[in-house]
Amino acid sequence: MGKAVVLAVNGRRYEAAGVEPSMTLLEFLRTQTPVRGPKLGCGEGGCGACVVLISKYDPATDEVTEFSASSCLTLLHSVDRCSVTTSEGIGNTRDGYHPVQQRLAGFHASQCGFCTPGMCMSIFSALVKADKKSGLPEPPAGFSKLTASEAERAVSGNLCRCTGYRPIVDACKSFAADVDLEDLGLNCFWKKGEPADVSKLPAYNRGAVNTFPDFLKSEIKSCEQVNGAPVAVSNDGWYHPKSIEELNRLFDSDWFDERSVKIVASNTGSGVYKDEDLYDKYIDIKGIPELSIVNISSSGIELGSVVSISKAIEVLSDGNLVFRKIADHLNKVASPFVRNTATIGGNIIMSQRLPFASDIATVLLAASSTVTIQVASKRLCLTLEEFLQQPPCDSKTLLLSILIPDWGSDGVTFETFRVAPRPFGNAVSYTNSAFLAKTSGDAASGEHIIEDICLAFGAFGVEQAVRARKVEDFLKGRPLTSYVILKAVQLLKEFISPSEGTTHPEYRISLAVSFLFSFLSPLVKVDTPSALYTNDNSKYLLEDHIKVDINDLPIRSRQEMVFNDEYKPVGKPIKKDGVELQASGEAVYVDDIPAPKDCLYGAFIYSTHPHVHVKSINFKSSLASQKVITVITAKDIPNGGKNVGSCFMMLEDEELFGDPVAEFAGQNIGVVIAETQRYAYMAAKQAVVEYNTENLLPPILTIEDAIQHNSYFQTPPVFVHKPVGDYNQGMSEADHKILSAEVKLESQYYFYMETQVALAIPDEDNSMTIYSSSQSPELTQYMVARCLGIPFHNVRVITRRVGGGFGGKGMKSTHVACACAVAAFKLRRPVKMYLDRKTDMIMAGGRHPMKAKYSVGFKSDGKITALHLDLGINAGISPDVSPLLPWAIIGALKKYNWGAFEFDTKVCKTNVSSKSAVRAPGDVQGSFIAEAIIEQVASSLSVDTNTIRRKNLHDFKSLAVFYGKSAGEASTYSLVSMFDKLAFSPDYKLRAETIEHFNNSNKWKKRGISCVPSTYDVSLRPTPGKVSIMNDGSIVVEVGGIEIGQGLWTKVKQMTAFGLGHLCPDGGECLLKKVRVIQADTLSMVQGGMTGGSTTSETCCEAVRQSCATLVERLKPIKDSLEANGSTLEWGALIAQASMANVSLSVQAYWTPDVTFTSYLNYGAAVSEVEVDVLTGATTILRSDLVYDCGQSLNPAVDLGQIEGSFVQGVGFFTNEEYTTNSEGLVIHDGTWTYKIPTVDNIPKQFNVEMFNSASDKKRVLSSKASGEPPLVLAASVHCAMREAIRAARKEFSVCTGPAKSTATFQMDVPATMPVVKELCGLDVVERYLESLSSAGPNTVKA
Ligand SMILES: Cc1cc2nc3c(=O)[nH]c(=O)nc-3n(C[C@H](O)[C@H](O)[C@H](O)COP(=O)(O)OP(=O)(O)OC[C@H]3O[C@@H](n4cnc5c(N)ncnc54)[C@H](O)[C@@H]3O)c2cc1C
Ligand code: FES
Ligand code: FES
Repeated sequence: MGKAVVLAVNGRRYEAAGVEPSMTLLEFLRTQTPVRGPKLGCGEGGCGACVVLISKYDPATDEVTEFSASSCLTLLHSVDRCSVTTSEGIGNTRDGYHPVQQRLAGFHASQCGFCTPGMCMSIFSALVKADKKSGLPEPPAGFSKLTASEAERAVSGNLCRCTGYRPIVDACKSFAADVDLEDLGLNCFWKKGEPADVSKLPAYNRGAVNTFPDFLKSEIKSCEQVNGAPVAVSNDGWYHPKSIEELNRLFDSDWFDERSVKIVASNTGSGVYKDEDLYDKYIDIKGIPELSIVNISSSGIELGSVVSISKAIEVLSDGNLVFRKIADHLNKVASPFVRNTATIGGNIIMSQRLPFASDIATVLLAASSTVTIQVASKRLCLTLEEFLQQPPCDSKTLLLSILIPDWGSDGVTFETFRVAPRPFGNAVSYTNSAFLAKTSGDAASGEHIIEDICLAFGAFGVEQAVRARKVEDFLKGRPLTSYVILKAVQLLKEFISPSEGTTHPEYRISLAVSFLFSFLSPLVKVDTPSALYTNDNSKYLLEDHIKVDINDLPIRSRQEMVFNDEYKPVGKPIKKDGVELQASGEAVYVDDIPAPKDCLYGAFIYSTHPHVHVKSINFKSSLASQKVITVITAKDIPNGGKNVGSCFMMLEDEELFGDPVAEFAGQNIGVVIAETQRYAYMAAKQAVVEYNTENLLPPILTIEDAIQHNSYFQTPPVFVHKPVGDYNQGMSEADHKILSAEVKLESQYYFYMETQVALAIPDEDNSMTIYSSSQSPELTQYMVARCLGIPFHNVRVITRRVGGGFGGKGMKSTHVACACAVAAFKLRRPVKMYLDRKTDMIMAGGRHPMKAKYSVGFKSDGKITALHLDLGINAGISPDVSPLLPWAIIGALKKYNWGAFEFDTKVCKTNVSSKSAVRAPGDVQGSFIAEAIIEQVASSLSVDTNTIRRKNLHDFKSLAVFYGKSAGEASTYSLVSMFDKLAFSPDYKLRAETIEHFNNSNKWKKRGISCVPSTYDVSLRPTPGKVSIMNDGSIVVEVGGIEIGQGLWTKVKQMTAFGLGHLCPDGGECLLKKVRVIQADTLSMVQGGMTGGSTTSETCCEAVRQSCATLVERLKPIKDSLEANGSTLEWGALIAQASMANVSLSVQAYWTPDVTFTSYLNYGAAVSEVEVDVLTGATTILRSDLVYDCGQSLNPAVDLGQIEGSFVQGVGFFTNEEYTTNSEGLVIHDGTWTYKIPTVDNIPKQFNVEMFNSASDKKRVLSSKASGEPPLVLAASVHCAMREAIRAARKEFSVCTGPAKSTATFQMDVPATMPVVKELCGLDVVERYLESLSSAGPNTVKA
């Protein structure tokens, strides 16, 4: 028995004896301590939900060093004798909250809250790091030494799917000494117009949190005295050699087997290449002192292999140009909390052994670095290039150190490049490169001669970073001219050859070309007559293009809203209910519920092929498969039960298990049950499934296949829109026609931070309690009951809060609940399933991909007279919500007056995962398709797009024709004024002119601006609400809706206070603190319905208001009689009296909408301005201005959060999020490594929101409007602005690709990712340009 791992967690001592060496710190914290702040969001270092602060103590110097780390990748044994601080450790309910938590709360920076503890810890560790810096002036009281720009980067590795990041950035910046507090956004600390002052913020005192407890220091010191060194844990499978000799002895021992022993430095590599099996033996090499060296000498900087990337950055930043540039590049690798532990050596070894898109190998290769390795007793010094080219080294090869030579500064040019979906990291690059050139100037000619050059490239679909030797040889000794660069580029294109299967190969090649061009161009003689890098009429230098990084611009914002006291406390921007609990990590999500006794854990085994018989499921022989307790399949569904996993509104069921045929790749075919969740995950990976396709037709995978086979779902007639007008007549009136144009939109994954999760606990008499993270507990109850064949009243589904839903926990969460229920029913033990991110992504379904073909007729003045649309929607295997999609799509398209409008929509049934509702389902596609049509009309008439938009926006008369009753009253039609305000303002005109000027004077960067309107129809659904007053006057509220981050509880709380406020002199504000909204429970609150469609908050509020009205009716007589007696009214006294008088203090109401008002329209408009990098296809959103009609907002802070958050989620859909499948329909973008939701780096640099309050309409709930989904469609403005910028690029370079063979007209699908943008700008613009120069005259042609 080895020594126990000893650590402090939030100041408390833990001794973990006999813990498996493969246990991560996260698993330990969550299963063996009460800590729940760190969450599992991805398990691969890519989301930040698990971030903690790790502190190490050095007894020799008596110093504590702190750094953030991803606890999901950190192995528990590696933090022996460390102190771990989690979000609950810096502040909590009992001890008081930390200012980081309070400021996040006060800046409205948390919605679902699942990311918030991780955010807290990233910010907290940035503060700790900044405040430890010496040599900086003392910041004013209340601030830290953090700068505003550091503050913006503090959370660059943390994902948040809800907020859109702007308020999080504001909370971070509030700590920065150089911030202008007036620039920060809406908050609870000062009102608009009041002076912003640090004293109004929760006070920040540096060093107030003790990150390393004294008892652990003493323990470490006493160990030192006894052993001379900290204790190495061993013999429990964790080996911690203290010298290379010791390591070699381990290698030579009997137990060493390279397949079963894992050698680790910091284990972050397992975030990149996931462990496929469990290991029971680890060798931790970080304790070998020689591997931690940092030697700075005249020959260069030598870094020991276990030096962390962060440490390397620190060391290199103090060096000369080459070192500094390397440091800059390393700053874009991964994220702060990964870099803090990830080692340089681990990265190099990974890139030596595996096909890995390493940045570090590329930049070190360009600097001609060397490595020292130890093979058995031999020590070898090799160039990095030699090392990388060797066959993959075996596991006994030890990388000792890396030496980066000192290149000095004279005559040396060094640049590094990387292009990735996120500019500042947490995204692996498509291609990276680093170039070092030694040049000499020819005094006579002024030319630069390349004396020596090293060109390194990586990540483009090549196993290791490589040098382009042929290109180097060609360039050596030559003076640089455009012709020489052209030849170099041509040679490079022969060399850069992405391996088969690499995505976007042509794009990657074009990036390599762009990088080389960008590097060499500034070296061309500056006074060359037809200067290489200037535009005819500009002073623009390509060098500036490299230096001025638009991404460095600070994030700014402005919020405008009208506050209204009419219904207070409704309408006040109060902070989110329970937000501090979320920030501290004390808020309980399903996975935070302490595991019940005997709990087992499940993981899905899914089919990897579509439409196949599943013949058998077996397991590989491995450590993980030994953990399998059983596998639950369709055969385990009890008698009387049904193989059902989900369904929507009585439409067709979707099976729980693909049995006997797995209909699609990703379908559940069995659930592995094991003793821990990690065992279950790992065991599921060991499954070997035998399939056959006997007597089965080939699967139908695409829209085209489905059309060919007539494979459709029918739309219920009530959800079919009627055509408008006579299409043929409309076409006959047209002066111009566009026939059969196309546009395509792909899928999108929800990326809720909390994956699907359920816990099923069997109870007496065949009943079952399910804790489910669900947007529809009522549906979950229905499905579980049918699946088990038991009455509904035997199924209690409880949902307290959901860590993000976005529609994905409507129908999809029921599968997980049913699977747990079947397993728990059979095994008579509680069963929990918390899906790993990959499984969740593979099974989730997501947004509907679709293809639209349209014909449109229009007059010469741009008035559209007729539109015909053929729409194919890929719905996947089951109907889910898909039959309703056409309703939403066509509804959104109707935002314009098309004259006559007819359409044919096909909801295709295919053998892919069933698609479901994703925030703004159908509306976002419909609204975008409308814009694509308008843009094409504009470009074919060569007219400004906004003019065409404006010409075709409805007046109220045509609005009523297109939308019928939803159009409401004329006074509520606010769209035209909002659009005009944005698109026809002097400011817009000025910006458009500035952009034109910019585009005329910049060759390689182009800007575009666009304004997009939106009209969004929402429906009101019946909802229950129950208000109960306790004898002490506290109030408990239950509603049908679920708190998924949208602020439902906050609005409900305000409404309760308002509703009962008639009994209070202050109108109810005093009651706010007394209201607690509690979890949904299907046996307590029946007919809860589904949370979705944006109106749940308001309908819950209305149900609560009705309940309150009844309570007021009951209490008013008592109040009146008390007051008649001259008593002063006090809430508690009133309730006490009422209780004594046996007044029933609990009321439940079931609100149903008035049949004359079941839906209404939401309006908004947005202007976005973008800059596109023609060389790389990267887009920066310079500014977005949103105007959204929120009616009389129930809570402006909550609605603002919804507007910003959904806009940013829309930005992801339109620009970056690729959720594609292989040829069999199996999702291939299945983790944070490949699926890139926006981070703080991707949001608009200036992000302005105006909440407009259109005329009040009492038919709506207190005249409010929905805000959850409609603003998402406004993100189309970014796509449209990108098109304008791309159009300018195509014009510049005369690019006429695409079916139209036109510079101005081209099809631009969704998402417009970087490869798409680059392709549209022209993959070969560099070559075209160089060719044009080379043929321009003898001056530039120097071969
Ligand atoms: C979310 C995320 C994002 C990332 N983004 C990027 C990126 O953009 N660009 C990039 O270049 N990298 C990126 N990385 C990779 C990251 O740099 C590596 O994971 C890290 O450097 C590996 O170091 P480690 O100490 O954790 O290695 P470990 O995971 O401990 O080890 C990795 C492998 O190397 C072996 N090994 C480690 N050290 C030695 C040694 N000294 N001698 C012999 N063998 C050794 C181990 O046995 C193991 O096989 C990312 C990683 C993550 C998790
Ligand atoms: S869970 Fe650790 S980074 Fe995502
Ligand atoms: S609040 Fe950030 S993910 Fe929900």
